[in-house]
Amino acid sequence: MKNLKNLKNFQGKQSRKQNHNSPPEQKILPPQSIHFQIEHIDPLGQGVHLHSIDDSSDRKQVTFIKKTLPGETGTATFLAQKKGVLFYQLEKLIDQSNERVTPSCPHFFECGGCDYLHVNQEKELHYKKLAFHKIFQKNFSDALQNSPLKIRSSSDRLKYRNRIQLHYDRKQKIIGFFNLKKEIFPLSSCEMMNREVEISFQKNISNNQWIQLLSNDELTRKILHPERGHIELYNGQIAINERYAHLGFTQVHEKMNRELKNLVQEEIKSWLKSKGLNKTNILDLFGGNGNLSDELVQEKIAINAQVVDLYPNKKGNRPNQTHFDLYEARGANKLKNQFLKNPTIPVNFPVIILDPPRGGMTNLHEFVASFEPKMLLYIACDPHSLNRDLEILKTHHKFSIEKLYLLDFFPGTHHFESMAVIVF
Ligand SMILES: C[S@@+](CC[C@H](N)C(=O)[O-])C[C@H]1O[C@@H](n2cnc3c(N)ncnc32)[C@H](O)[C@@H]1O
Repeated sequence: MKNLKNLKNFQGKQSRKQNHNSPPEQKILPPQSIHFQIEHIDPLGQGVHLHSIDDSSDRKQVTFIKKTLPGETGTATFLAQKKGVLFYQLEKLIDQSNERVTPSCPHFFECGGCDYLHVNQEKELHYKKLAFHKIFQKNFSDALQNSPLKIRSSSDRLKYRNRIQLHYDRKQKIIGFFNLKKEIFPLSSCEMMNREVEISFQKNISNNQWIQLLSNDELTRKILHPERGHIELYNGQIAINERYAHLGFTQVHEKMNRELKNLVQEEIKSWLKSKGLNKTNILDLFGGNGNLSDELVQEKIAINAQVVDLYPNKKGNRPNQTHFDLYEARGANKLKNQFLKNPTIPVNFPVIILDPPRGGMTNLHEFVASFEPKMLLYIACDPHSLNRDLEILKTHHKFSIEKLYLLDFFPGTHHFESMAVIVF
């Protein structure tokens, strides 16, 4: 009786949901396998195919297929459906692009790490440039027109990473990267590891030694070394389930980090010169271990450089460092008040270096209002965040984008660093 009442209630709700004039929309499940034709590559390096939902209409659904190229056709198997778009995995190629090359890594087609090893480095950079333009074209086409995107390519395409993160499942005795289905798959090696990480990988991971690294003590097992987690290899070191392997953030690609540091220094010096100055105060937000500002202090370009970061780092506490949550509500005012209480910290920072995590900094305008910089170097590992944050900044402050850079920090993957040189 109760069940019948529930059923009637359910049917009543369902019929109220339907529009009386139109037939109920049928939910069509995505097919297990499809034939595809790739239209273009999206900013995440995935091939885009428009999948016909049914034969009777021309409704199409955006479908992403990694490791494919424009013009290619073939078959692909269903992976997932999210927010109205479909994800498929390449199964078989029928028409191959002449851009395609044989990937240097045997795991490339299953691995979720790399996106571009099926083209050469020049093509990869071409797709990254297209991605940047696509993201910035809508809001900042003027900036791109006035000062074309400047590219800093990497001399190393492989073996550049000084750290890798591996996922483990203790029960199944499996460790590796995530595949395209977000499952752990074991790997014999990774083309991106530098020599030191490779040695550590062969010693600790490939022969199942990693299981010995996890504690069997019940409490540790529960809190620090659970059944599933991650192990990070950082040059000679190992960290288990820590946010960063070696006490705080460090850049993964040392040669490109040198390139970035040079650029930051050149841009600040050139701006100072244009103002008839040779030194200034610098606020290094999300500054980590002072990677981007320390040399400016040593060179006496920075009279005072304040490094602000939430997490501890390998250099430990230094006088010019503040541990602070930069996403905190009214954080800009709080940081300013904290600085005001310390007479050794200046009140005025004509230059801000900003290098946030992937999520960017939507409250940037508050920091600009509080610290009144004349120049801002915004370094971003996600160009979408950079674009969004500058769009928000535009509604609060007047500024111009003097230069835009793309630094190929993560060859093989769709990721790159961007830097915007901004003056107020
Ligand atoms: C992309 S890294 C940049 C680090 C540094 N600029 C460098 O070049 O090594 C981002 C930094 O943001 C810091 N961070 C993450 N969340 C934060 C927060 N809520 N407040 C302040 N810093 C944060 C991390 O510790 C990390 O050092």
